[in-house]
Amino acid sequence: MPIFTGLAPNLNQKDVRIAAAFLFFPWKWSLLQRGNEVKKVEQWFERRFQAQYAVTFDSGRSALQAALKAARIGEGDVVLIPGYTCIVVANAVTQLGAKPVYVDITSTLQMDLDVLDTFFSSSKKQNIKAIIVQHTFGVPEQIEKLREIANKYNLVLIEDVAHTIGGSFKGRALGSWGDISIFSFGSEKVVSCGRGGVAITNNFQYGNQLRQAQEALPQMSIRVVVQYLISFLLFFLAKPWYFQHSIGKFFLAIAKKLHLIPSIISSREKIGERQPEYPTAFPNALATVVFPQLLDIDANNVHRKKISQIYVSQLPKEIQLPFDQDLLEVSVFLQFPIVVDKPFSLRTHLLQFGIQLSTAWSGSPVAPKDVSLQVAQYEQEKCSSALNISSRVLLLPTHRNISEVDAESICFHINQYLLDVT
Ligand SMILES: Cc1ncc(COP(=O)(O)O)c(C=O)c1O
Repeated sequence: MPIFTGLAPNLNQKDVRIAAAFLFFPWKWSLLQRGNEVKKVEQWFERRFQAQYAVTFDSGRSALQAALKAARIGEGDVVLIPGYTCIVVANAVTQLGAKPVYVDITSTLQMDLDVLDTFFSSSKKQNIKAIIVQHTFGVPEQIEKLREIANKYNLVLIEDVAHTIGGSFKGRALGSWGDISIFSFGSEKVVSCGRGGVAITNNFQYGNQLRQAQEALPQMSIRVVVQYLISFLLFFLAKPWYFQHSIGKFFLAIAKKLHLIPSIISSREKIGERQPEYPTAFPNALATVVFPQLLDIDANNVHRKKISQIYVSQLPKEIQLPFDQDLLEVSVFLQFPIVVDKPFSLRTHLLQFGIQLSTAWSGSPVAPKDVSLQVAQYEQEKCSSALNISSRVLLLPTHRNISEVDAESICFHINQYLLDVT
């Protein structure tokens, strides 16, 4: 079986069975949009994070924007966001008329607290209303200190937990530090059903705002729900054949052209625009796919840690980020980052062995690489560390379909490549 970091990486037979049942059993069609599973997902988050409110949306990005709105972020406000992030995070801010100000990161992907300090000594500090903190690739932020900073300056702390469910810092769950925290069920996330997300909070006012926002949402159209369900079947069929004379690759490219597979980030979003068909409610059919994955999350995280440990021990330290032992122990890597001078060339090299690593976060500090940094209001000169890491990063898989043998094979081929280029 080929090895992928991306391409619906978590997808397994159970997901496909659930999707096929929705597609082929007519008595299930009335449950595509509405049903009990959405509530079950929300209740799972309420229990797991001891949150008063867990409110689902069509995606993490919609949950993030709803969180900002609930916190009354709008025109003229400044929101601090990580210097290495995804365009949808910036869009959530800019589309409300607020200004994203990027905070450069450290060599271990966390917000640089010294840089952060400088924002509060400047004259513009009164416009800073919120801070979005993101546990990039599952590496916990310095969340305790960030919580203190938010308290000190009276900022709303939005915890972006799109890259992990089940991680913790100092024994306290990631997702329980923010005033509002958001999670994602996108196709390359810790749990996935193609599209989905949730915002949680213990704040009565924010919770009510989120619930009201959710109640006002239209349903996701049947066409789009069906598109996601079909896409699971297509990925499942095509991936084993991906490298066999490129049959699977070709098949997926055609399916994408025919819009049978939705794109993760649309071309409109890459230039900061809204997708007109969103936000919507989270559909029951996709909740049915994701719910069993949530029940399995702890076993899944143990697996991710085991696979990451193989990378840590078998790859040279020079291509790893300088995580110390404590940070490695608390990180549950969604994908394991390595840094090399030519990430795209290493990726191409590995393709010949049936290994497709992800460059989704390579080549631009605001992923993916073909976004408009100008529209994202990114100030490159202020984020040199984020620029440096993003120009060299490559992401290795840790998901449930990767075996220990696969991880060892990835290490072997990377090590061979490094020997060849030196
Ligand atoms: C850091 C971060 N936050 C938020 C999101 C939004 O998640 P979603 O894809 O569910 O909208 C993503 C992913 O796209 C992300 O990478």
